[in-house]
Amino acid sequence: MNALHRDLKRLVPLAEERGRVLREGDRTRLRFHLMPPVGWMNDPNGLCWYRGNYHVFYQYGPFDPTGGVKHWGHWTSPDLLHWTQQPTAMYPDQPWDVHGVYSGSALVEDDALYLYYTGNVKFAGDYDYIYEGRGHNVALGITKDGIHIESKQLLMENKDYPADVSCHVRDPKVWKQDGRYYMVLGARTKDDRGELLVYQSEDKLNWTLCNTITTPEIFGYMWECPDLFCVDGQWILSLSPQGIGQDGYRYQNVYTCGYFPLYGDFRGECALGDYVETDVGFDYYAPQTFEAPDGRRIVIGWMGMPDADYTNPTETGWQHCMSVPRELHWNGERLTAVPVEEIAQLRENGRAAKVSGSIRLSMGEGADLMLSEILGPVRIAVGADAELRWEDGLLTLRLSEAAGYGRTQRVLPLDSLTDLRVLIDTTSIEVFVNGGEQTMSTRYYPSEANTLDIDGTCRVKQYDLRAMTFDWA
Ligand code: FRU
Repeated sequence: MNALHRDLKRLVPLAEERGRVLREGDRTRLRFHLMPPVGWMNDPNGLCWYRGNYHVFYQYGPFDPTGGVKHWGHWTSPDLLHWTQQPTAMYPDQPWDVHGVYSGSALVEDDALYLYYTGNVKFAGDYDYIYEGRGHNVALGITKDGIHIESKQLLMENKDYPADVSCHVRDPKVWKQDGRYYMVLGARTKDDRGELLVYQSEDKLNWTLCNTITTPEIFGYMWECPDLFCVDGQWILSLSPQGIGQDGYRYQNVYTCGYFPLYGDFRGECALGDYVETDVGFDYYAPQTFEAPDGRRIVIGWMGMPDADYTNPTETGWQHCMSVPRELHWNGERLTAVPVEEIAQLRENGRAAKVSGSIRLSMGEGADLMLSEILGPVRIAVGADAELRWEDGLLTLRLSEAAGYGRTQRVLPLDSLTDLRVLIDTTSIEVFVNGGEQTMSTRYYPSEANTLDIDGTCRVKQYDLRAMTFDWA
């Protein structure tokens, strides 16, 4: 343990004490979404099941609610419903990660948890920090008990990457397949093309490049947080590309997040299918998947958006949360994402109605609303501050000026709308469209939201959702 580590280990709990005070009476705190104890949260990291618990590590800025130097925060849960805040897992305390323990993933093997991450270093000087002046290092933290990191080591640095990439090479996602280890890294080339570097290893420590995957036409300048996995027989390259301008109703956010179906073998001959945006709300980015012990492919996304021009009123104390865990499937044409079945255990006070015209339902602090058999236009109003409207082939999510903090509307063109599911928490809304073929996630800050008004012809089912349990340290 070095002196920096020792000091940070003492300081983070002091910052979190402030979080304890801030939490009291804070009506913006969520009831069934993971949040940071204090400060800033971004990407989910190191998602896995290990020793009887789900582990959600995350990008954590305990000292600065607008970002700061990234640590790895840590939540665990045996069931995705009861969560325990664990001690901060990794600190920026080594020469190769001193300006941030950036995003990465988990590999479970031989009764140990291997946490691969990007060590961020910004050298002093007059640099642009893209083509010069930045170290993006692949590093590894190892823990046996799943809580305390016993060792950290540097595995690869910029000189080890291909000659044509810029300094931006990050977010290792690692898995084991056919007796070998594979790692994908997101990269920005020196001529500003986003691409995927595929590495392989026999021993988890020494890595060699085995492929580079990109699109025939440039698709953004950087591919952040790549994830490569197979679900229901289909390979998917999920990623968060930067540098794609708005094109009508496509790419309405500053950065997009979505997937390419991948055909062939990622280690050799392969091709990417058409890019699909997964979540087209205001706040969803850098998702990561993992395999649950029962074989489910689960994804969690960061409910935030880097460099967005909208804000959150909590930004003097804490900021951002995670999406609910979502189960992924390939339906033959599209990836679908729906809330994991565990969420149903939070349900109470179910009610159902067949609507033809208008209906007003009362709503608790959390709601799980389902619309099916939708015929013609439909409108859902959540209190006075959020509205979801389906008409003329467009599904529009609109927030009031008072609740949106700069968020206005997001529009999703659809051929047809068969069903909708909407999860409403105190300050978030997640919309699952047509069996989860598309999602829309947003933060919002309503003055009051205790009614649901539905207009149209459809079948409605609604439950209140109880809060999850958060055991703060
Ligand atoms: C995505 C991202 C990652 C990076 C991390 C730093 O939101 O920019 O590419 O590793 O955040 O916090």
